[in-house]
Amino acid sequence: MKARDEVDLRDMTIDDLSAVYHLGEELFLNHQQPILYRIWDAYEVTGYFNSDPEFCLVAEDNGQVGGFALGTIFEKQGSAWKYGYVAWLGVRAEYRRRGLGARLYKELEKRMQKQGVRMVIMDTEEHRQDAVAFFHRMGFKERESHLWMAKTLRRSASPRRLEPVDKRTVKVMHFHQPTAVVLPRQDRGEQQR
Ligand SMILES: CC(C)(COP(=O)(O)OP(=O)(O)OC[C@H]1O[C@@H](n2cnc3c(N)ncnc32)[C@H](O)[C@@H]1OP(=O)(O)O)[C@@H](O)C(=O)NCCC(=O)NCCS
Repeated sequence: MKARDEVDLRDMTIDDLSAVYHLGEELFLNHQQPILYRIWDAYEVTGYFNSDPEFCLVAEDNGQVGGFALGTIFEKQGSAWKYGYVAWLGVRAEYRRRGLGARLYKELEKRMQKQGVRMVIMDTEEHRQDAVAFFHRMGFKERESHLWMAKTLRRSASPRRLEPVDKRTVKVMHFHQPTAVVLPRQDRGEQQR
């Protein structure tokens, strides 16, 4: 394993798609409590690679993908600001706490800021303490309470015979992210951190 600053950060290429997907499987699917409302699948990797290649980064160490970041930017009607979204950021377990996640995030942020982004957003579940602590360290703050709700539907043999859903199957999950960081205007120079 290379020393912490020697791991290469670079654009994701088509040859990385499989490695990134499989690392994401380890990080996001086999995790005890995956993010239920966003599913890691091959389309996440190919989709972001196709739509936002400049926001798809990998950290490579001796041919092995040690971490990756996938993001995008968007605009909102009625807002003059551009927003960045960190969709997936992951670092292989054995590479953690060596600054790789921070390097990946900061590179993503730099690229977003160059495109005029004023606020970066990420979301995660409250209990993922590593991610919450990491994004706090990157300067993120909770913006607002966010609630998502889920309802389990009973199986039905025939689509015509839909049965009423038992009230006990309706679950409400409290969830306090997304968190966001506001970036200074590009022309004001250096970032706040
Ligand atoms: C979140 C994650 C990307 C962090 O990657 P990392 O390479 O370990 O992060 P860094 O080494 O750059 O950490 C930077 C700082 O963040 C904070 N931090 C990172 N992981 C932390 C943890 N587990 N507990 C507390 N603070 C943590 C620390 O302040 C750290 O600085 P320090 O090591 O000098 O104390 C990594 O833990 C991960 O892949 N988690 C699983 C996937 C995930 O939840 N992704 C985010 C949602 S998509």
